[in-house]
Order: sequence, then structure tokens, then C-alpha cells
Amino acid sequence: MRLVLLGPPGSGKGTQGAKLAEALGVPRISTGDILRRNVAAGTELGRKAKAFMESGKLVPDELVIAMTAERLREPDAQKGFILDGFPRTIAQAEALSKLTPLDAVVNLFLEPEELVKRSAGRRVCPKCEAVYHLVSNPPRKAGVCDRCGTALVTRPDDREEVVRTRIETYERQAAPLIQYFKDRRLLREVYASGLIDEISLRVQEVLRA
Ligand code: AP5
Repeated sequence: MRLVLLGPPGSGKGTQGAKLAEALGVPRISTGDILRRNVAAGTELGRKAKAFMESGKLVPDELVIAMTAERLREPDAQKGFILDGFPRTIAQAEALSKLTPLDAVVNLFLEPEELVKRSAGRRVCPKCEAVYHLVSNPPRKAGVCDRCGTALVTRPDDREEVVRTRIETYERQAAPLIQYFKDRRLLREVYASGLIDEISLRVQEVLRA
């Protein structure tokens, strides 16, 4: 399965992408996670991307396209993938179409105020990248990753003012992108409100249809 997950910040792309990747036995490729790893490691890409990410803006297309193309060439992506957070612009969608065909694009949609609440309560593991929420998806022991025992952190771009900029940035780009995939009959819409497992069932349903 070669799948793209679209959706605004906090809509649950990472959460649903991780579950789908496990169920389908394909890698989840999150451009946000790859960029954050580069920022943490201080690579040239990370140094170029950092200011864009911290202010809630998109990293320039040429950097993200080259990074994603390289990731898609790795052996584990040859049997399929879940792309989380890419493409975000028409230029990225066109570049992707030259790299690989797609089976479906799932668009997770949710009201802006709910998105802000989800991002405000998010805690992430800086080591294994597991994602939690203080209320809806807490770790077993407060502040500690269930999987690897590392202390959880707040993402620097989860401050409310940055989240609102990220939502605005997304909304500016989203309409043409959604139309692009609608025109190619790849788009499946999923309302992302409800329990995590309920959303998973909705995603499975639209993928079967
Ligand atoms: P990225 O990391 O991709 O962030 P995003 O798209 O803004 O999405 P998020 O990670 O914030 O949210 P999500 O939808 O994955 O939600 P999650 O599952 O975590 O990108 C970060 C930055 O990198 C961008 O701003 C940009 O600068 C740059 N970038 C990345 N890709 C790029 C690209 N292609 N081009 C240019 N720049 C790029 O869930 C959120 C929270 O809600 C969690 O706490 C979770 O536990 C909780 N939750 C999940 N589902 C539910 C539910 N059903 N009910 C209640 N809580 C839930």
C-alpha cells in the first residue's frame, strides 16, 4: 500500500500513520520527524530547516523534496509506505508523482479549536518519537515514554501561537492540494474527531471502499 496522510497539524496523522504502518507492515515516513532528527543532529539540512519549523512555516520545497526522494529510495519503502506530512504543496505533489504511484490519499479533517487542544496536550519521546497526549493518550507513567523509558518533551512548535500559524499555513496550501488528489480520484475523507481507535476504523473503511 502506497498511502499519503493529509491533514492539519494535530489532526492525528502521526498517530494513525503509526497504527497503519504496523498493521500493513510498511514504513511510516514522516517528513516532520526526519526534519526534527536533522535539527537535533545539527546537519546542514537541520540548520536550514530550524527557523522555518520553529515559526510554523513550511520548509522550502527543494529541501523537503530532495529529502523525501532519498527516503523513498531506501529498500524498506519499495514494498509500500505511509507518507505523513508530505506532500504539502502542489510542487511537492508533482515531484511525488514522478517518484512513485499512489494507491490512496487519506485526508483527516477536524475543527481548528480541537487541533489547538490536541497540540497543546501533546508530549513526544525525543528518542523513539512515540507520541502521547496528556488527556486522550497518556503514558502509563506520567512524563515517561512507555516504549523506551525516556523523559517526554513538548515540541517547540506546539506553543499556541506557533500552532495557530501552522494551522493558517496548512489552510492556505490545503485546498489546491485536496483538489489535486480529488482530480486524480485518490482522495478519501475521514472526520478525525472521536477516539483514536474509532478513527482507525474509519480509515480502514475508506481504504476498503
Ligand atoms: P509535522 O511534524 O508534519 O507536523 P504537522 O503536520 O503540523 O502535524 P503534527 O505532527 O503536529 O500532528 P499530527 O497530525 O501528526 O497529529 P498527532 O498524531 O501527533 O511538521 C512539523 C513542521 O515540519 C512543519 O510545520 C514544517 O515546518 C516542517 N515540515 C514537515 N513536512 C513538511 C513538508 N512536506 N514541507 C515543508 N515543511 C514541512 O496527534 C496530535 C496530538 O493529538 C497527540 O498528542 C495525539 O496523542 C493526540 N491525538 C491523536 N489522535 C487523537 C484522537 N482521536 N483524540 C484525541 N487525541 C488524539
